[in-house]
Amino acid sequence: MCGIVGYLGNRQAAPILLDGLAKLEYRGYDSAGICVFSDGKLKVAKAKGRLANLSGLIDGGRAISGTVGIGHTRWATHGAPSDVNSHPHMAESGKIAVVHNGIIENYLKLKEELVRKGKTFCSETDTEVVANLIEYYYDREKDFAEAVRDAVGQLEGSYALGILCQDYPDTMIAVKKESPLIFGFGEGENFIASDVPAILRYTRRVVYLDDGDMVVFTKDEAKFYDAFFDPVEKKIETVDWDISAAEKGGYPHFMIKEIHEEPKAIRGTLSPRIRDGRVVLDDIELSKEYLEKIRRIYIVACGSSYYVGCLGKYILEKTCRIPVEPILASEFRYSEPVLGEDTLCIIISQSGETADTKAALEEAKKRGARTLAIVNVVGSAIAKAADDVIYTWAGPEIAVATTKAFTTQLCVIYLIALYIADNLNTISPKEYAAIVDELMVLDQKVALCLTAEKIEKIRYYAEQYFSVRDAFFIGRNVDSAICLEGSLKLKEIAYIHSEAYAAGELKHGPISLIEEGTLVVAVATVDQLFDKTMSNVKEVRARGADVFGVTTEKHAEEIKKTVPSVILVPETHPLLQPSLTIIPLQTFAYYVALLRGCDIDKPKNLAKSVTVE
Ligand code: F6R
Repeated sequence: MCGIVGYLGNRQAAPILLDGLAKLEYRGYDSAGICVFSDGKLKVAKAKGRLANLSGLIDGGRAISGTVGIGHTRWATHGAPSDVNSHPHMAESGKIAVVHNGIIENYLKLKEELVRKGKTFCSETDTEVVANLIEYYYDREKDFAEAVRDAVGQLEGSYALGILCQDYPDTMIAVKKESPLIFGFGEGENFIASDVPAILRYTRRVVYLDDGDMVVFTKDEAKFYDAFFDPVEKKIETVDWDISAAEKGGYPHFMIKEIHEEPKAIRGTLSPRIRDGRVVLDDIELSKEYLEKIRRIYIVACGSSYYVGCLGKYILEKTCRIPVEPILASEFRYSEPVLGEDTLCIIISQSGETADTKAALEEAKKRGARTLAIVNVVGSAIAKAADDVIYTWAGPEIAVATTKAFTTQLCVIYLIALYIADNLNTISPKEYAAIVDELMVLDQKVALCLTAEKIEKIRYYAEQYFSVRDAFFIGRNVDSAICLEGSLKLKEIAYIHSEAYAAGELKHGPISLIEEGTLVVAVATVDQLFDKTMSNVKEVRARGADVFGVTTEKHAEEIKKTVPSVILVPETHPLLQPSLTIIPLQTFAYYVALLRGCDIDKPKNLAKSVTVE
C-alpha cells in the first residue's frame, strides 16, 4: 500500500516523480504529493484524490523546478484521505521531508514524547512523527545520516522511507523494513521506488533492498548500510522485462490487457519447467525423502491467491493423496496451527508483500514447517523469506484485480502436484502424461477463450445483466472453487453484491435470497456432476433467477435444455479445467464493470499490495 519514488540527478525531478507515481498508483490512490528542492528550499505540493489532481495543480510538474525530489501516492491508513494527511510530510521547522509506505506501530507513543519536547503536528499521520523524530535527532547531531539512523532505531512497524534534508540539497536517504523498496542506478542520476515500473523508463540496474538496509546517495554515488549501520555491498540485478509490460499498450484498461496476456503468462510459467514430458522444478529443493515424510499440506494466502489454494486442495489431494487445507493467512497466523516437520506450507502471493501472508509464513517457519512460496514479484519479502520459491512468470500485474497472476499461480499448483505425485508414486504414468500433454497446450486453449467471437458473446451477456443487484455463482467440485474467484471479480470491480456457493449447498439457506431478477452464474464443467448442477439450476430458475451458464463444448447441447445464456470453453484435463473456466468469468466481470462506468483498474477502497493487517 502506498507508493514512493525518489529522483536525484540533472533532469527536472517533478515530471519524473509524476511519471513514477503514475506507475505506482495501483498501490493506492487516495492522494498524491511530491517534494522538490526548488531554489534551495524544500517545496511541497500535494492533493487529495487521484494523481491527475496533483498533476493539474503543478502543471504536469512544470510549476516546480528542481532536480532532486521525492513523491508519494497514498492508500490511507492513519487519518482520512485529505490534503493535510497526504505525503510528503515535513518536520515542524521544514528541515526534513519524508515519504513513507508502511505503518509505524508506536507512533502515538513517539508523538507524545515529541509533543512533550515541544513539537507540534498538523496531520493525523504516523509519517509526520517520523519527520519530526528525524529532525529532533538532526538538531542534536547535525548529521543527516546519523539522525536518520537514530530515528529509525526508535521505530516499530513497517516502513520504506524516502527522506530529504534542507541542509543536504544533493543527498537523499532511503531506509526499508517490511515494506518494499528498490534502488535504481542511472548515469549521473539515481532513483528509489516501491516497485520497478516506476523507474524502468530510466534504468534497469536495481538493488532490492533488504529489511534494515539504508542507502545514502547523491547523483553519482550510493552507500549502502545494514541494520547496524555497517557498510554493505549489495548485488545489482538487471530487470529483464520491458517497460511496455507496465503500460496499457493500446488497451483501455490494464485489466483487459492483462486478461489478454494470460496465454503468454501461462506459457512463460509452464514451458521452462516441462522438459521432455517431465516436470522439472530446478527452483526448489524438495527431496523424495522429505516428500515421503509429509503428512499434511497447508495452502496459506489471501483473496484470489487463497482461492488458488481452494483449487489446490482438489488438485493436490487427487494427485498426491495427502490431506490439503487451504486457509486464509489472516486466520492462520492467529490460529495456533498444528504443524511441524511433516507439514509443507505452500504460501501464495502475487505481490510477495501481503502483510498477513508474510506473517503466516513466519508463523509456519517458527513452528518447524517447510515453506514453499509461489510469488510473482521477484525479490519481494515473501520470496526472500520462504525456504523455497517458485516464481510465476506473469510479468508486472498493474490492475488491482488480479487475472494473469491468478492463472499462473494455478499453473504452479499443477506443477507442484505433478512433482510431488511423481515422487510419491501416487499418479500413474498414463495420468501423468495426460496432464503434462494438456499443460503443454493450455496457453493455446486459454487463447481460444479470448477470441473476438468469444469476447463479443461475453459483452452481449454483460449487456443483459449489468444492472442486476445480486449475483450468485454456483458449481460443484473444482467449479465451486472457481466460482469463488468469479464472484470476487464481479464484486470488487463492478460493485455488485455477489456470493459463491457450492451448488449443493444452496438449498441449505441461501436459496431463500433467490428472487425474480437475481443473477445466477452456473459453472458446470465436471462431467459426472453436470446433471446435479443442472438440477440446482432448475431450482433457482423456478424461483425467478436469470441464469448464465459456463460449461465445456461437449455439453453444448445438453446445457441449452436448462440454461438459455451459455458460454462454452474448450475441454482439457478435468483438473486443469479451472484455468479455462475462469477466463469468461474474468471477462464478464470486466465488461459488466465497464457498462456500469466503474473505475476498473482502481476499484474503490482497494489497493494492489495489502501491507496492513
Ligand atoms: C483480488 C486480488 C486480491 C489479492 C489479495 C492477495 O483481485 O487481487 O484478493 O489476491 O489481496 O494479494 P497477494 O497475492 O499479492 O498476496
